[in-house]
Amino acid sequence: MQDLIERAARDIAGSTYAIALTGAGISVESGIPPFRGKGGLWEKIDPMEFAHIDSFLRDPEKVWNVLIKEMKGVVDEAKPNDAHTGLADLERMGKLKTIITQNVDGLHQVAGNTDVIEFHGNFAWQRCMDCGGKIETSEIDLSEIPPRCACGGIYRPDCVFFGEMIPPDYMRRSQQAASLCDIMLVLGTSAVVQPAAYMPVVAKENGAKVIEINPENTPLTGRISDYIILGRGGEVMNGIIAELEKLLDA
Ligand code: APR
Repeated sequence: MQDLIERAARDIAGSTYAIALTGAGISVESGIPPFRGKGGLWEKIDPMEFAHIDSFLRDPEKVWNVLIKEMKGVVDEAKPNDAHTGLADLERMGKLKTIITQNVDGLHQVAGNTDVIEFHGNFAWQRCMDCGGKIETSEIDLSEIPPRCACGGIYRPDCVFFGEMIPPDYMRRSQQAASLCDIMLVLGTSAVVQPAAYMPVVAKENGAKVIEINPENTPLTGRISDYIILGRGGEVMNGIIAELEKLLDA
């Protein structure tokens, strides 16, 4: 693994436009379970029953009780881990322009990254389905489920449910970043959910090097990514930052 960490640090040092695509795996070390795989949320509940917009519209009380309340409990407590701070360090070093994240936990911004495209929205806010008014998730009153706005409308997370479109502006900015970058770090995503999983393909087709960081192979491995560093996000990012500091100081 150390060889590949050194290789990634050299690649990043020589790049002029590196970006990252992140997924749930980057927040595992912050105590937020992933969706797929062992211990994943979708092992416990069926996403089509609880995370599809049609399910929410049919029975918002059920989706609030099973999915949203649990997510609120977990996300409220979470703090950035070494993988998040590693990406923030890369930005501070002038070596990372943009993060496209599928996560809704807001931890990249807490870590200090300033250009974060939240492809699937943000769990920090709830939006009234009638008047569109927004309230911070931490301020929401859970004594009534589903929680309601003063206008009587039901609040929903400001996230993209299955069955909903990616906000067009996020889609456009992500495609642009993916086509301009010379390196894409793909960190902690199973790369099975579209259209996010297509962004590494866009990067590759436009000549970028695609570097995966993940304890497991994904459908990108050996096809789209140039190489994969098989490890946890925190330890790998710590290694890359340490190597990069040596290279940039030299
Ligand atoms: N460090 C890095 N990667 C990790 C770690 C870790 N410590 N632990 C697990 N992983 C990897 C897993 O091997 C897996 O490939 O993170 C990935 C998590 O995959 P998913 O749970 O499928 O998460 P993600 O790819 O973000 O899912 C995409 O699916 O249900 C939707 O909307 C949800 O945005 C989400 C989308």
